Amino acid sequence: MSNQNMTVTIAGVEMKNPVTTASGTFGSGREFGEFVDLNKLGAVTVKGVASVPWKGNDAPRIAETYGGMLNSVGLQNPGADYFIENDIPFLRQYDTKIIVNICGHTIEEYCQVAEKLSDADIDLLELNISCPNVTAGGITFGTEPKMAEKVVSEVKKYAKQPLIVKLTPNVTDITEIANAAVCGGADALSLINTLQGMRIDIHGKKPVLANKIGGFSGPAIKPVALRMVYQTAKAVDVPIIGMGGISNGEDAIEFIMAGATAVAVGTANFSNPMVTIETIEGIEKYMEQYHISHISDIRGIIE
Ligand code: SIN
Repeated sequence: MSNQNMTVTIAGVEMKNPVTTASGTFGSGREFGEFVDLNKLGAVTVKGVASVPWKGNDAPRIAETYGGMLNSVGLQNPGADYFIENDIPFLRQYDTKIIVNICGHTIEEYCQVAEKLSDADIDLLELNISCPNVTAGGITFGTEPKMAEKVVSEVKKYAKQPLIVKLTPNVTDITEIANAAVCGGADALSLINTLQGMRIDIHGKKPVLANKIGGFSGPAIKPVALRMVYQTAKAVDVPIIGMGGISNGEDAIEFIMAGATAVAVGTANFSNPMVTIETIEGIEKYMEQYHISHISDIRGIIE
């Protein structure tokens, strides 16, 4: 039995440890069940759910890059009704918290999905105003403070679960959007979503992704993500779930020292399905090594 206390609280929801998954990199958890004991995770954050099914973007929608990958999936998902019927019962078999990433093309669609999920047995909602791969909704709401505040305040009218707002790094000053989301009623923030990027097939003389531009994620973006978590933690009073290139316990500790309450592991799941568990073990090992009794003792210690 470990002497290290890793529990964290996000908007009143207690997680047994600070590690969750980044939306879109872990499906609904089912895909990883063979490798990962979901009971060990602080929370599972599922792929974006809309009020109705979305078919996503044309292929190719994934490309490898140095130190990461590009995606332009376009939030393909089977819709809230399917999710409520199939995925929630599956996840509820496990002793972990459920965070549901929600998406929409319009404020009305965001409100509809929040309303559909309002009586569902889930713990937290994560409002996706940061996906760079859709022409309406997503990043179009997350790059303008007034729009961000408006969508958050409207969704808050329908959401019964605490609301995390997921921020895009594709802005000049992330603290402006963070403050706007908090003014709108965000109970917590998660950051960062992907950085907009591109690759070109020089032989075919065309972009590698059918959508031309996609979202860049993976270890290469970690310094950017860490900087933004650090700046945001200094600017707001709500808890932060930090993410962006986390691949092990040491990466996670960096985010916690920068001010994150919890962390999400994303792209690393694709190359190492065990990475969430290894990250939890790595945090525990670090705490043992430095005799840290509670994870909150190191939260935000970087001035
Ligand atoms: C996608 O489905 O295009 C990625 C999800 C996101 O960036 O939020």
